[in-house]
Parts: sequence; structure tokens; C-alpha cells
Amino acid sequence: MSRQWKIAVLPGDGIGPEVTDQALRVLDAVRRRFDLVFETAEAVVGGAALDREGTPLPEATLLLCRESDAVLFGAVGGPRWDHLEGELRPEAGLLGLRKGLGLYANLRPAKLFPALAAQCPLRPEISGGDFDLLFVRELTGGIYFGQPRGISGEAGARVGVNTEVYSEAEVERVARRAFQLAGKRRRKLASVDKANVLESSRLWRDTVTRLAGEYPEVELEHIYVDNAAMQLIRRPRDLDVVVTTNMFGDILSDEAAALTGSIGLLPSASLGDGPQGFYEPIHGSAPDLAGQGKANPLAAILSLAMLLRHSLDLPEAAAAVERAVEQVLTAGYRTPDLGQGRPVSTQGMGALVVEALAADR
Ligand code: IPM
Ligand code: MG
Repeated sequence: MSRQWKIAVLPGDGIGPEVTDQALRVLDAVRRRFDLVFETAEAVVGGAALDREGTPLPEATLLLCRESDAVLFGAVGGPRWDHLEGELRPEAGLLGLRKGLGLYANLRPAKLFPALAAQCPLRPEISGGDFDLLFVRELTGGIYFGQPRGISGEAGARVGVNTEVYSEAEVERVARRAFQLAGKRRRKLASVDKANVLESSRLWRDTVTRLAGEYPEVELEHIYVDNAAMQLIRRPRDLDVVVTTNMFGDILSDEAAALTGSIGLLPSASLGDGPQGFYEPIHGSAPDLAGQGKANPLAAILSLAMLLRHSLDLPEAAAAVERAVEQVLTAGYRTPDLGQGRPVSTQGMGALVVEALAADR
């Protein structure tokens, strides 16, 4: 008996809807190619939800996500909502979903496709023409959520406070996930912290070191975050899995994205204890590109591949989507962010992936 999966679709703002549309076309091609049944249901989030319901995360959206096997997310935010503060910002919708669904492990692969080697800003002898990193970013703790936080005091003498806080349990669960993933890859784990200055980082380092004994097959190194920023551009090929805090992961994963030639290529998966997951391109809403057919849908499409692999346990379908993307890139098709080649629009790129997938046997 074939299973029916439920996927919540949250297109959001800016280029979110147009790249999500292309991922949905690919999902439909997967359904046909592998004879599967998917039920999709759409909901609003971010600025779109603020406009319609006055909140960036309506209760109905969170409920829909809770009862789905997986969430396919576009992007949130834009200049129209930039004057709003705190809980009323579109980003609060995204943070509320991560926290509300308990998705503490954020997987951000950064892979340089050989077809895009020339797009990598590193010299070829450093990039090696291809590299393949996996960031595991802690996603529901640290300075993003720590208390106290806020702005207080009189005008001219105000103070802004945020708190970086981690419990051992929070470090342990994300580090375990990273050790396990490293064990299935090149068995190298780099843990990134700022233990020379921050107590929260000292606890992070202690906890990761303690766990290392349980994963003797994985070689662990600790790197300070400033050094990690440097090593990423000096020896990306020596790194495999990188586990780090919410804030450091936010910053370093953008740096890694730039090394792959375009931030328009990078997918992500956010996971908790079970198979349920949340999948989003890491590029954000790019309001200046919205509605022009210029956005690269490959990050959304590769996020769909991660969804098929991690939440639906369909590794063959996931690999087929990834092969189709690789083929289209190898054939030279390029959205504007990918530089010179055979120029295509957002929709054109989606159609090419669908075609490659249907031809893949
Ligand atoms: C990301 C984004 C978000 C974050 C923003 C939009 C809240 O930059 O997913 O990397 O900081 O986590
Ligand atoms: Mg970011």
C-alpha cells in the first residue's frame, strides 16, 4: 500500500512564491515519475500573513505545519514591513515556526557543483573545483532566543540587550545529530565556538568533547569562529561537517554559500527529534528581484530534495531531483545570479528540471 504524505506549503514574501511554485512543479514531476501521492496545503506566513491577518504567524499556519509530515517554505520579509518591530516583523513568523515545531538542527549543505567551478570566488587550487560542506546550525537557542532581551531606558541613554545562552541538553542534541551525519560522510566534524571569550561557548566545547567518546569513528576538531571564517576560504576541502551555534551558523553559512558561486543554490533542512522537517532555501526574500522571473529556483528545488530524503524517506526520489539539477547546470543553463551561460528565467529553470527528471531513468 502506498503512503500518502501531507506537505504544508508556505510561500511567504518576495521571491518566495515564485521559487516555491517551481519546487511544486518538480514535486508534481516526482509524483508522476515515482507514482506517489502527496497532499499539499498552502498557508500564509511573514509579511503576507501580516497583511492578511495582522500577525506574521497565524495560529492556523502553525497548526497546519504541526499536522504535516513536512513544510516547504519560501522566504519572508521585505521593505514594506521593515518599520515593524519585534514580534510583528515578518522574520518573527519564521523564528516562531522553528521554535514552535522544535526544529533545533538546521542542515545547510554548501556544495560547489563542478559545472559552476568558475563561479567560485576562490582560486581553483584552493577550491579544488569542487567541495562539499555540511553546516549543522543550532536553530532554537542561543542569542536568537535567550532572555533577557530588549531595549530599555530613556532616549539618548537606551540600552539594548540580548543573551547568548545554551544548556548542555541543547548542545548535546544538535551535536549528536552532527556526529551522526559526519559518520555517514567523511567522518570529520569541526565544532565552531568562541570558547576563548564566552562561557556559553566553553560549555558548548565541553559538551561536544564529552560526546566525542561515543563516536570514535569521527575525528573532531574545535575551531574558534574567527578562525573558522578564515579557514573556510583557505581550506574548504579540509572541512566536512561543521556544527555551531545559531548565530555563528547564520553568519558562516552565508559565507559558505558565497563560495559555491551563488546563494541562489543553497537549500536547508530544519529537523527535530522525529522525521518531521522544515525546508527552505537560505537566500531569503530578495525583494528587489521579486516578480521578474529572475530568481533562481534551484535552492527551493534542492530543498524539496532534502524534504524527500529526510522527512519522507524517499532517497531515490531525492537523488533523482539532485541529478536533474546537476544535469541542467552541466548543460549550461543559468539564471542571472549564476553568471554566463544559456540564460533562463525562474520558470524556465523549473521547466528544465522537470524535463530532466522525466527523462531520468
Ligand atoms: C537565515 C536567515 C534568518 C536567520 C532570518 C531571516 C531571521 O538569515 O535563515 O539564515 O537569521 O536565521
Ligand atoms: Mg541568515
